[in-house]
This record gives sequence, structure tokens and C-alpha cells, in this order.
Amino acid sequence: MYKLLFDLVFKKMDPEKAHHLAFFWIRLAASVPGLRQLVKLVLAPQDRALRTTALGLDLPGPFGLGAGFDKNGVGIDGLSMLGFDFVEIGTITGEPQPGNPEPRLFRLVEDRALINRMGFNNQGSERVAARLAARAHTSNTPVIGINIGKTKLVEEADATADYVKSAERLAQYADYLVVNVSSPNTPGLRNLQTVSTLGPLLWDVRQAADRATSHHVPLLVKIAPDLADEDIDEIADMALHLGLDGIIATNTTIGRDGLKESAERVEEIGMGGLSGAPLKQRSLEVLKRLRARTEGRLTLIAVGGIETADDAWDRIVHGADLVQGYSAFIYEGPFWMRRMHKGLSAHLRRSGFRTIAEAVGSAK
Ligand SMILES: Cc1cc2nc3c(=O)[nH]c(=O)nc-3n(C[C@H](O)[C@H](O)[C@H](O)COP(=O)(O)O)c2cc1C
Repeated sequence: MYKLLFDLVFKKMDPEKAHHLAFFWIRLAASVPGLRQLVKLVLAPQDRALRTTALGLDLPGPFGLGAGFDKNGVGIDGLSMLGFDFVEIGTITGEPQPGNPEPRLFRLVEDRALINRMGFNNQGSERVAARLAARAHTSNTPVIGINIGKTKLVEEADATADYVKSAERLAQYADYLVVNVSSPNTPGLRNLQTVSTLGPLLWDVRQAADRATSHHVPLLVKIAPDLADEDIDEIADMALHLGLDGIIATNTTIGRDGLKESAERVEEIGMGGLSGAPLKQRSLEVLKRLRARTEGRLTLIAVGGIETADDAWDRIVHGADLVQGYSAFIYEGPFWMRRMHKGLSAHLRRSGFRTIAEAVGSAK
């Protein structure tokens, strides 16, 4: 059904316009009294066995939506209605910004992949904080991660102040906070992954979050799949040293290896981060490396090329406490989350573990 809709409607549309249209429908459905509960009943049936705890948070399951789909936190309830166990909003920057010129989102259908160079188009942390404040007393709200990044016009040397500003404004609304230093579409952003820069940045964001709230808001860093293995180890060591709560691995890649799409087309698309199936293997490698280095002392959220319950289970047994997806949602549609949950339930039952948490890191 969704495949037909995708082939007949979405595939013929500009990908960003299709995103806006689909997201509009999701929000509309969620705003109709009674319909939200009905859709949730069908698409997000809850298997109590999948309930899990991570980052000190109780979640209905381990499977969330990766950052970038809902940059401004406008559709949280709609996305939860579709069955995501948690929703990461953002990336939100200190100041509002339009992002890069369009077109900036491209489908590689044969590869079940996307290339994007959105460039953190978002309304800025002040406006998003006001929106989150207005919904602060909503009941049944899902777990919300807030992902923050650097405003493009802010110099690299002033990056910390920009992150701190967002953290101060947003921490109180976050179930967890993510420092994004890994998007390829803001010039210089990924330089912030150098440990000598990243350490002080994360420390300052930690202090800012603590100033803004009386409770501990878990803080994570999101890293790129293009880091060298030694850099991954260094970031893991630093995260442990700083008392960070976790790491999200991974963001999109600047690599273009192994694509079925013609080299000419890939060249024509140009710069941007590649996501979806081609990212699967490297994302898993990065996860394994982080797990080996941190041995369960940090919460790991795996993202990158997760398309099936088998993929998600694979990440869990290799050390992911939680998993996220984005690109497969575009290709698989609104029934994807239901399939993922069913598959995860089946895996859990077959495994003999009682909970997801018991299965985490169990692969030998
Ligand atoms: C169109 C698009 C926009 C994205 N925007 C962001 C973003 O703003 N911040 C971020 O941390 N990651 C962003 N991502 C990366 C995803 O959260 C995720 O890490 C990546 O796509 C790999 O997962 P996937 O293979 O399941 O898509 C974006 C991805 C896509 C496809």
C-alpha cells in the first residue's frame, strides 16, 4: 500500500516537498481528537516485553526516530502516534537559519539511501524552546531527545557559546540532550570532533544544562562514521572521563562507496551526507568499536542503515541500548514501526532473554 503511494506520488515529487507533505498529514492526523489514539492503537501496539530503561528513562521500546526529521519539534505527538518509542528533535542551532539552497535532499532509490545537505534549516533555540514550553504539561508525551548544533554564521572559535546558548534554553525540555558535531553540511563542524576541542565544548554544555535544570539531563555526543578508529577510541575515552552519559553512532557519511546509483548521478548530486542502507556496515563497526572500548559504561544509541528488525537486533546484541532510524522510514512508510516492533518482539522471545536490556551486548 505505502509502496504504491511511494511509487505513484512521493517518488515523482521533490524529496523535500514530499517530506513536508507527509509530515503535514502526520501532524493533521495527530491533531484530530480520537484519531491519534486510533492510529496509535493500530500502528504502535505495545508489547510490554519490549519496555526498556536507558539513560535513566523508561521507554515503551528501544526504537526511536533519528534527528533531522522534526527539526523544530512541531510533530512530536504525530511521530509518537506512528510508533516511535522516542523522538529526537533538531538539530537546533543557537540562532534561526534557513539552511542551504534547494535542492538539498536527494533519493537514491536503488540503494535505499538518501543524500542530504540540508545545513541545519531550523527556527533556532529560542523559538523551539518556546514551543516546547507550551507543550510542557502535555500528558502521555514520548521521550524527547533534543539535538543541538552550531549556527553556520558563528565562527568555529565561538562555537561553544552557541551550543551553550541552546543548551541553556532547551535542557529543561529534554529527556536527553545531544551535541551534534558530526553533520557534514556545516563547514568546519566536524573539526569539533577533535578531542582537544570536543572535551571543553562538552564540559561547557554540561555546565549549561546543569545551570538550566535542577535535575540531571543526560548528555550525549553524536559522531560521524568517517572518523578513524583511533579517533573513535579517543572520543570514547574522553566521554568516560567527562562523565558523559552516552554516544550516538552514527551520523551520515561523506563516503560514496558501493552505490548502485550511477557515478554520474552521484557526481551531479554533489556534496552532502549519505544515509540509509549503504551506511549499515560502517555504523555497525563504529558501534562494535565503542562497545569494546566502553564495555557497557556508556549508553550507546545506534543509528545508520537500520532497515529491519534483524538490523536493530544486531545493533542491540552488539551493544546498542537504543536504536534509531530515519532513511528507512522514508522508504518503508507508516507501517515500518509496527513491523520493527513485531520483529523485535520475535527476536526477544527467541533469544531467551527476558528484556532488551539483558540482550544488550550479548553477541560474542
Ligand atoms: C534529510 C536528513 C536530515 C538529517 N538531519 C540531521 C540533523 O539535523 N541532525 C542530526 O544529528 N542528524 C541528522 N540526520 C542524520 C540522521 O539522524 C541519521 O544519523 C542518519 O541519517 C543515519 O541513519 P539512517 O541511515 O537510518 O538514515 C539527517 C538525516 C537525513 C536523511
